[in-house]
Amino acid sequence: MNQHANPQSISQQADELEEHMMHELERVVTKSTLHYLSDGEVKMDSSAGLWAKHPGAVFNMGPDPRLPPMPAKPTLVDYFRCRFASHAHLLQSATHALKAGHNEKVILACLLHDIGVVSFIRCDHGYWGAQMIEPYVGEEVSWAVRTHQALRFFPDEAAGYKYPDMYIKLFGDDYKPEPYIVAEYERAKNHKWYMTSRLICVNDIYSFDPNAKVNLDDFVDIIGRNFRQPEEGLGLDSSPSAHMWRTMMWPNRFL
Ligand SMILES: [Fe+2]
Ligand SMILES: [Fe+2]
Repeated sequence: MNQHANPQSISQQADELEEHMMHELERVVTKSTLHYLSDGEVKMDSSAGLWAKHPGAVFNMGPDPRLPPMPAKPTLVDYFRCRFASHAHLLQSATHALKAGHNEKVILACLLHDIGVVSFIRCDHGYWGAQMIEPYVGEEVSWAVRTHQALRFFPDEAAGYKYPDMYIKLFGDDYKPEPYIVAEYERAKNHKWYMTSRLICVNDIYSFDPNAKVNLDDFVDIIGRNFRQPEEGLGLDSSPSAHMWRTMMWPNRFL
């Protein structure tokens, strides 16, 4: 019979499958302390504790098989597609800036302004986002992304930016920005790139349109011209923020 024609290869296949499954099961996935802190717990996964539960296990030191696989040399667009939890807000913001006729620096800044939130962490998202992109974009773009964190809390009606009603809803009408945010705003006010960051806020606030038609493909050329894609792959290069991209790619590596 046909299935006996090459029994060795069938048994080899079975061995390979078993080997593969064992590896999957043996690789224990761990969480970082930050995940527990977010749940209100000060604790960590220790190897001793994990071995008590999974005797003889080895820990995951590569991709998490539950997440979308990343290509060998990932680009910013691959992170958008495989790791960013949401695109709509960023794309709407960038589309708004594009339609308003702003230059590519402003459009890119709008496209990337909240990548801290959608991929990484909420607290101080402007600072995280700026640090992630700093080695790959013009200084003006990362400066604007960092500073929008502070400018959002301060109106500039001449530029078309009111304090957002949404913020009263989100944070209450008695919320006052912390002193470090006020100080950042004071430093930014007279900076030569103030308007670039302010334009992020202006395009941000009007961009929550559920009917807007947006597409990442519309921005691939702007990314190509303004984001220096490392040859080795984003995160596999040696830039000062490459580790942040690697952490997104492999969020459950033990170390
Ligand atoms: Fe933001
Ligand atoms: Fe935003």
